[in-house]
Parts: sequence; C-alpha cells; structure tokens
Amino acid sequence: MRASLTQTPAAQLEVDAVAVPVVAGEALAGPAADLDQALSGLIREAFDGGEHRGRVNEVLPLNTAGRIAARRVILFGLGPRPDLDGQRLRFAHHELVRAVRAYGHRRLAVLQRGAPTEGDLKAAIEGCVMGSWERRSRQTGPRPIRLDELLLAGFGPGREREVAEALEVGDAVNQAREWQNMPPNELTPEALAQEARRIADRHGLELEVLGQAELRAGGYNLLLGVAAGSNLPPRLIRLSYKAPDASDTRLAMIGKGITFDSGGISIKPADGMYKMKGDMAGAAAVLAAMDVIAGRRLPVDVMAVVAATENMPGGNAQRPGDVVTSANGKTVEVVNTDAEGRLVLADAITYALRHAATHLVDLATLTGGAKVAIGHAATAAVANDEALWGLVARAADRAGDRAWRLPAYAEYRVLLASKTADLKNSEYGEASTITGGMFIQQFVEDRPWVHLDIAASSWNDNDDLTTVPRGPLGSGTRLLVELAELISASRR
Ligand code: BES
Ligand code: ZN
Ligand code: MN
Repeated sequence: MRASLTQTPAAQLEVDAVAVPVVAGEALAGPAADLDQALSGLIREAFDGGEHRGRVNEVLPLNTAGRIAARRVILFGLGPRPDLDGQRLRFAHHELVRAVRAYGHRRLAVLQRGAPTEGDLKAAIEGCVMGSWERRSRQTGPRPIRLDELLLAGFGPGREREVAEALEVGDAVNQAREWQNMPPNELTPEALAQEARRIADRHGLELEVLGQAELRAGGYNLLLGVAAGSNLPPRLIRLSYKAPDASDTRLAMIGKGITFDSGGISIKPADGMYKMKGDMAGAAAVLAAMDVIAGRRLPVDVMAVVAATENMPGGNAQRPGDVVTSANGKTVEVVNTDAEGRLVLADAITYALRHAATHLVDLATLTGGAKVAIGHAATAAVANDEALWGLVARAADRAGDRAWRLPAYAEYRVLLASKTADLKNSEYGEASTITGGMFIQQFVEDRPWVHLDIAASSWNDNDDLTTVPRGPLGSGTRLLVELAELISASRR
C-alpha cells in the first residue's frame, strides 16, 4: 500500500472513497466541514436522520452522486471524545479499511478530525495498514481486495517521515499477526529462528541461535524441560542490535515463543486447543519490533531474545512433580506442565543477563487470567521499577498499544513457595497473572524489568467484543518500538 499526504481539498480528490471520521456528538470541523459544504450538507443530513451516530467502528457509505470527485463518502465513528485514545483511533481506522475493502474500493482518502495533532497521522496510517491485513492467507479462492493507495488529507504538509515510519510500524504489526496466525506445523521453533535470521541479514545484526547441545552446556534446563515432550528441538534465539556509538543502556526484549502449547502432560481440553498456535505472540512482537528498531539505527543497544519450543506431552515429557534447576541455579518444582511460559522465560532472562542486558521487558501469552482480569482491550503488566514502568506506560500511550499495570504485593510471594524446591511454577489459586509475573521476577536479579502479559490483548477471540478487531492483533509490537524510541530520545 502506498500512502501520501495531500493538500488538495477533499472534494477534489480523485479516489474511490473519502473517509470522514466522526466523533459522537460533535459537529463536523476542518476539512470534513468543507467537504460537507461541497456535498450540499449530505453528511449533516446523515447525522440529522440518525443514520450515523459516530459510534465507535460504525461505518456508513454514502453515494456522492457526482457532487465531488470521489464516488463515495464513508463516515466512520470514533465514539465519544472522552473514550478516544490512540488504540481506539487505530482500531477505528482498522475497521474502516476492512469495510472499504469489502465495498471493493482500492483508493482511499482519510480526513483528519479537525486540526492536526501529534500522533494523529501515525494512528491513522497504522490503523489503515492494520486493516489491510488478512487472516485468510491459507485459503485457495480468489484473493481479497487490497487497498492500493491511501491519501491523508488535512494532516498538514511536511510530515513525510511520519508517513514512512507509520507504514513501517503498521507492516511490522501485520508481520507479527501473520506469525501468530501461522499454523503450528509451519511455524516451528526452527522456523522462528529462520525468521530471526532474515531480520539479522536485513540489518546486519548479530544472531545467536542455541540448540539442544548449547542449551545443555548453558544449563538452560527450564527451557529444555518444557521442550522434552516435543520431537522438535528448542531454540533460544538472540538478535542484537548495536547502536552506532557505545551505549551503556542495553534493552532486552524477551518473547515467549511457544509455537504450540498443548499443555504438556497437564494437557489442555480439546476445545479451542488450536488457538494455542498463537502462544508465540510475544516472540512475534519482539522480532517484528526489532526489525523496525534496527532499521531506524537508534542510539541505544537493543536485543531481542526468543525462547522457542513446543509444549507437548511426548513420552519424554516432563511430569508434574519434576524438579528442574534453572540456568541461574534455582530449583523449580513443575507442579503444572501447562505453566510453561514462565519456565522458558526465566531461562531466557538469565540468557539476556549473561549478554549484559541492563533493562528487561518480557512479552508473553502467559495466563488465561489476563483475559479475566482486564480482557482483550489491554495488555496486563507487572513491573519492579517505577522509572522503566513509566517509560513503558508512556510508550503504550504514544503507540496506542495499551498496557495496564497490576500490583505485585509482597503478600503474593508466599504463593510461589514450593514445599520441595525454591519455587513452584503454578497452583497459586488466585491472582494468576500477577503471580505468573512475579515468578519471572525471581530471575531478573534486581534489574529494572517489566512483564507484559499479552495472553488476551494479542488475540481477540470474543465475537461480542466488536470494539476490538477480532483475531490476532500483534500487540506489544508498537509499544516496543516506541519504548526504544523513548529510551533513545533520553540519550540523544
Ligand atoms: N499459553 C497459556 C496461556 C493462555 C491462555 C494464552 C489462553 C492465551 C489464551 C499458558 O501457557 C497457560 O497455559 N497458562 C495457564 C497457567 C496455569 C496453569 C497456572 C493458565 O493461565 O491457565
Ligand atoms: Zn503457554
Ligand atoms: Mn500453557
């Protein structure tokens, strides 16, 4: 998809459709008001008749009957102003583009809401690019219609760099979604390593991929324990980007890369088990973000670490009750083999620390509890450091990629205690998203750390929650790019 800024009045744009954002309860302003005048009040009429009320993701096509150059005007709702943030704005553009494609349009102009603001352009473009992604990549029928051209009207001149960067980020999010959606017989741990290799080649990054033998030598027994039930060998993957000038900050983005989570011996119910192909969404986000970060040559060192394996119940699988020693020497009683994410992440964090990480952010589809706690509309976070959390919160806000912090009260710590070993990996009975995070915290050696549980935010499988796009969402990707940018800005 091409995207460019235009200063041409909306009425004269030679496109298939002009999209007009509508905030519920607000009158048309700026370029939309001018457009309505050229249309002799067609849009106002739709408002007055109650045909479009600006409800979030509400889309209404209107025929322009030759009054302007475009055949159609499409009203799309942003909901009421107080609810409007960067994520909503992106998702509204996402739903707009899906509708536009269904109508068969290929050339679209999107109007600004009023006066240009910081972040408006980025949100519009990223949302439109996201709306162009298709989940049906494995269907053999005719290909769905794609948007070829996007014009951005009313966003002001001279913002070409923002346009290019937003296209890049949108593509990265879609790449993460593509990986999430890939069938688990294709996206194996080795296939994830190959994806990392492609990124390394593209940007000249250092790549290390540890296999069975190296993992054994490094004592990464928690990762090996999870991998033991699978016939596919695990991979611990590291992509390292080095800033042009020496950097004393080294951000590690660590992704859970369970390419399929059957639960292992603590096997999951058959219903919906196929969804566990998406248990590598954390890995997808860190790889996709790294692709952008490395391309931008930011002045901060960043590494992406992916712990990739299947969690399967093969004859050699670990058992509930097994005690396994982590790479940094802690003993862990595996009381539930389905709580595998924290195990592989614990070793991945040790690996990142061995490679001199100073700041840790892990992304993981860790707990079903995240869906219960805050649902699909945001990522659940746990953190041990106010400064790093502050940056992550700001990045989430700027990226329109929500994260909400949960408390890590000391009270919960006893829930991690095993009667046999240093820690147990499950059976906490309450606060599973928090305790899952706090388990990982035991391995960060007091380094600033933020845990992002994307179990719910990375994939909306609730058909009733129509305000969030359904399917894989690549959540965390935008946040990580923005975080690397914010850390860079503080160093420039
Ligand atoms: N991958 C799952 C979590 C998950 C659930 C992700 C639903 C996406 C959607 C994770 O490995 C898991 O099984 N977690 C268990 C942990 C429990 C055994 C402590 C859970 O949350 O039920
Ligand atoms: Zn899992
Ligand atoms: Mn599991």
